[in-house]
Amino acid sequence: MKDILTELENRRKGARLGGGQARIDAQHGRGKLTARERIELLLDEGSFEEFDMFVTHRCTDFGMEKQKPAGDGVVTGWGTINGRQVYVFAQDFTVLGGSVSATHAAKICKIMDMAMQNGAPVIGINDSGGARIQEGVDSLAGYGEVFQRNIMASGVVPQISMIMGPCAGGAVYSPAMTDFIFMVKDSSYMFVTGPDVVKTVTNELVTAEELGGASTHTKKSSVADAAFENDVEALAEVRRLVDFLPLNNRQKPPVRPFFDDPERIEESLDTLIPQNPNQPYDMKELILKIADEGDFFEIQEDFAKNIITGFIRLEGRSVGVVANQPMVLAGVLDIDSARKAARFVRFCDCFDIPLLTLVDVPGFLPGTTQEYNGVIKHGAKLLFAYGEATVPKVTVITRKAYGGAYVVMASKHLRADINYAWPTSEVAVMGAKGATEIIHRADLGDPEKIAKHAKDYEDRFANPFVAAERGFIDEVIQPRSTRKRVARTFASLRNKQGQMPWKKHDNIPL
Ligand code: HXC
Repeated sequence: MKDILTELENRRKGARLGGGQARIDAQHGRGKLTARERIELLLDEGSFEEFDMFVTHRCTDFGMEKQKPAGDGVVTGWGTINGRQVYVFAQDFTVLGGSVSATHAAKICKIMDMAMQNGAPVIGINDSGGARIQEGVDSLAGYGEVFQRNIMASGVVPQISMIMGPCAGGAVYSPAMTDFIFMVKDSSYMFVTGPDVVKTVTNELVTAEELGGASTHTKKSSVADAAFENDVEALAEVRRLVDFLPLNNRQKPPVRPFFDDPERIEESLDTLIPQNPNQPYDMKELILKIADEGDFFEIQEDFAKNIITGFIRLEGRSVGVVANQPMVLAGVLDIDSARKAARFVRFCDCFDIPLLTLVDVPGFLPGTTQEYNGVIKHGAKLLFAYGEATVPKVTVITRKAYGGAYVVMASKHLRADINYAWPTSEVAVMGAKGATEIIHRADLGDPEKIAKHAKDYEDRFANPFVAAERGFIDEVIQPRSTRKRVARTFASLRNKQGQMPWKKHDNIPL
């Protein structure tokens, strides 16, 4: 018996060494942790239950039968994050470059199936040279099986991808279908075709980092949701994110202990809006002052900064925030901001996370670039996402809510539950200057008359009361009491049952 136990331990020891000490050292030399070290940091101490540690590939081509590393380049299993169950896979670059064989893919599929059955998130740590070249089509089939599971799991359990090394070719499409992608600066990249192919086909000279590094995907392409300095920070931040999310689409998000008075009054908010309506202010200040303990997990911070998306808590419960940012492009809606916010709204709606919308929007960005690139369809994404969302929706208009953008930004007309406005808000078709120039075109040559018309328009429409008189605004509130009002309102909506008519699925303008 003792011999058997010793053999088990020896086998485990061998498997834990992955591709061997030299390759582990090389991994460390690149500033990267190993698959097992990453899992250890991601999960609660001692909580990891590993599966399939002894699985090996079955390939006999190209001499592969002579190297059969235990685990086949991916570590899989489940554990907990702050006591809540998650399934995890981490590709082990020290074993055949973390490349994906049929058995490697089958290990990932196994934990994805378990995650679906048991209602727990899947976190995938990607660090792989892609399809195992020696296996050919078997590897492609394995990817296909993973892709199909990504699709089935979408909207059922949260799926989070961490890119912590190479992720290239068709392999990128698994992370692409998950809810969030996080990258590590300088050590991760994602692209469909690498720099060499790009050079051959398009004659462009580009480095891997420029083509698909963390900066590219968080600032330009918006493929990734955030980039972190190193593995340790990335893993700690994903733990933080998981705390905001429910385990599956049948559960509510967790209620965490909170140490912040829900009735807290913030007098400084009474002067947040500048006297001059064209002067910007930082909407993040409002978000931080509303949130429990000022804790805000921002999603896509570096992309389309004219809109802010992320998670806060109110009375310990997760709330998704969408807010126009007057500091960037005056908070205008455009293609990028509409796409960014629409995806976020749909994530929150999938997973029963209520939505708080903070509005200061002058309208949609005009111009040929926007029109030629389809602002009509992309803007409609956000409109559609808000209109179909059945989670509790609370809106606060702080200043401008003009035109179509007023309707889009979680207006009453899109089934928002409670819509507040600050006294400084203006709900109108457009600003006074533009409106005057259209209505009083005949007086355009007379600046005095135009100024008077603009003043009349402002007096009549540059306030929240026209909308409030019609019930489109439920209440005009004092800025200082926003946290209290919003927290109480979400509390009153906890049992909301929103519905959509039966359909197979909708046809959101993609
Ligand atoms: C088998 C692979 C591999 C792969 C790397 N290795 N990629 N083995 N299949 N795809 C092995 C290497 O042979 C090497 O083994 C070890 O992993 C480490 O690789 P290195 O090249 O030494 O590392 P590095 O210099 O850091 O370069 C990493 C790399 C490079 C850029 C990822 O390995 C590379 O270009 N690999 C091939 C990438 C590729 O073309 N993949 C197929 C893409 S198509 P030893 O024994 O020497 O340590 C694809 C389609 C998916 O993925 C489609 C889904 C539908």
